[in-house]
Amino acid sequence: MQLSASRTSPHLWATALRRFGVFWFTCVAIGQIGFICFIVAFYGPRTASGNYQAWNDKALIDGHKPGDDIGNFMFATHVLLAAVMTFGGLMQLVPAIRNRYRALHRWNGRVFLALACFLAIGGLWLGWVRGTRLSIESGLAVSLNGLLILCCAVPTILYAMRRKIRQHERWAMRTFMVASGVWFFRVGIMGWILVNQSPRWMNSTLSGPADMTLAIGSYMIPLLGLELYYSAQKSISNVYRTIAFGVLLLLTGFMIIGIAGTMLIMWPGDLFG
Ligand code: HEM
Repeated sequence: MQLSASRTSPHLWATALRRFGVFWFTCVAIGQIGFICFIVAFYGPRTASGNYQAWNDKALIDGHKPGDDIGNFMFATHVLLAAVMTFGGLMQLVPAIRNRYRALHRWNGRVFLALACFLAIGGLWLGWVRGTRLSIESGLAVSLNGLLILCCAVPTILYAMRRKIRQHERWAMRTFMVASGVWFFRVGIMGWILVNQSPRWMNSTLSGPADMTLAIGSYMIPLLGLELYYSAQKSISNVYRTIAFGVLLLLTGFMIIGIAGTMLIMWPGDLFG
């Protein structure tokens, strides 16, 4: 009995973790497709028709500023390419595409990494050169996200070029997590407000205790969650695996609430306001 339990248990854990991974990715894909639809539906028609002032129909820090041609151009490229990058990131994680269409995976990967770096550098420019920030604290928190995107993109591409596939996959996942930080932030804000039924410990400059925890947590928690997932895969301790699995389920539950909040409240509010 003892022997068969210890033989089946690792297999069961591996299956549970793999299924959890598929479920987590399905939730993320639904939420990020919602984000892409929002970007395209809100910014697409306003930009294509030249009605740039209408970017400010939603609450933005700067958006369109009359006379600031460079800033307006940087803002437009930032938001529109955000949709392309988000879609590209999702495509990279679909195993069927990765395994069957390897050339597509390689090219889409290069485009995704280039766009993630472009958005990170463009975001830093918007925050510190254009001055688009609500407070120094919130500006620093999102800037750390930008720096982490650049730090994760470099090993991702280097390991791919050296054909070290295992390390490449790990760094690619880390890049995906930090490049999704801006999306996780919106999900976190809505999750927090819905769970508390109020914007508790938040303020109008995004520098309240909850704002700062969510701003930094929007990329640190997904990064730590990923490491927890990898360590649970490797662990031989049932206690550790149970705790890790429980934490991952809790985080995913919170994420699902936040995804529902962004898709049912936040973005419809911005679009139909
Ligand atoms: C790489 C992933 C990123 C994505 C997908 C992304 C996406 C977006 C989107 C969709 C907007 C429009 C705001 C909205 O409609 O809610 C935006 C604005 C902005 N982003 Fe990013 N962004 C990313 C990274 C960054 C980074 C790393 C920074 C800072 C270092 C940054 C700084 C900004 C700023 C300052 C604005 C203008 C906000 C305003 O005027 O209200 N972004 N971003």
